[in-house]
Amino acid sequence: MKQFISAHDVTDIESLVQTALAYKANPFKNNTLGSGKRIGCIFMNPSMRTRLSTQIAAKNLGMEAIVLNAGGEGWSLEFEDDAIMNGTTVEHIKDAARVFGQYFDILALRSFPAFKNRDDDYSEHIIKQVIKYSGIPVISLESATLHPLQSLADIVTMNELGSAIKRPKVVLTWAPHIKSIPHCVSNSFAQWVNKWGKADFVITHPEGYELNEDYTNGATITHNQNEALEGADFVYVKNWSSYKDYGALLSYDSSWMLTQKHLEKTNDAKVMHCLPVRRNVELSGEVLDGPNSIVTHQAGNRVWAAQAVISNILKR
Ligand code: CP
Repeated sequence: MKQFISAHDVTDIESLVQTALAYKANPFKNNTLGSGKRIGCIFMNPSMRTRLSTQIAAKNLGMEAIVLNAGGEGWSLEFEDDAIMNGTTVEHIKDAARVFGQYFDILALRSFPAFKNRDDDYSEHIIKQVIKYSGIPVISLESATLHPLQSLADIVTMNELGSAIKRPKVVLTWAPHIKSIPHCVSNSFAQWVNKWGKADFVITHPEGYELNEDYTNGATITHNQNEALEGADFVYVKNWSSYKDYGALLSYDSSWMLTQKHLEKTNDAKVMHCLPVRRNVELSGEVLDGPNSIVTHQAGNRVWAAQAVISNILKR
């Protein structure tokens, strides 16, 4: 792999999943692969799991991870190509990326959507500029539209915990939220599950929350949550804002919050969420603390997903 910003960068998901699981069984089996090398982890937005799991993964491979909280500690960055920088921005992403390319062997970047213009966000111009000007392999730690390390960990988790089920029913359900939330996790989960191809995949949400079809094509889509949950083996709970009315919070229907009652319709489904989660808004505390929740297991698998991706890039 030359870069890891989407499922399209992966030729064989199953092989990457097996690599992640092999690292889970033996975290230090390639503990000199990255020796003498550095990964720069640049965060333009907050993170807990991605930041820590990527650093642990690099360390397991003998690689040094250097973290820059560019959103809070770096110079204010400019992203417009021909900007006249006489305002508040101090450094252009082109110049910053070129410098990152001097310091690191691999660059990993988190940048959220600006939510000002859908085409701008969906063009992924920030991470594309970083790829172009750094000249080194780039890993997305979540971009404007996708979160591939999360999705790989999600597939690893379903592979691991669903191995006894021939073809699991996987349901991605919209959940209420008080804020406008990006589409990254949902787009990415849909893209990866579709490419994985080993599940019957259903997406359910209220009207108006249709995601971009580039990612959801291949899934069954319904506005009836109860119908969707029927017989589900895995239920992935996630809020997202409107794609059509870009970034809008169209409704706050608390009946969509996943509760123990909803789980009665499922095949004793395992409940997933990328975290952080707003308890008793997106998902009931009872479900999160109960036996069906695998959210902590899922977060744990972030390490092995990151390790599989970094090692794949180091070995190329
Ligand atoms: N799921 C996830 O990416 O968590 P963080 O935002 O804490 O990294």
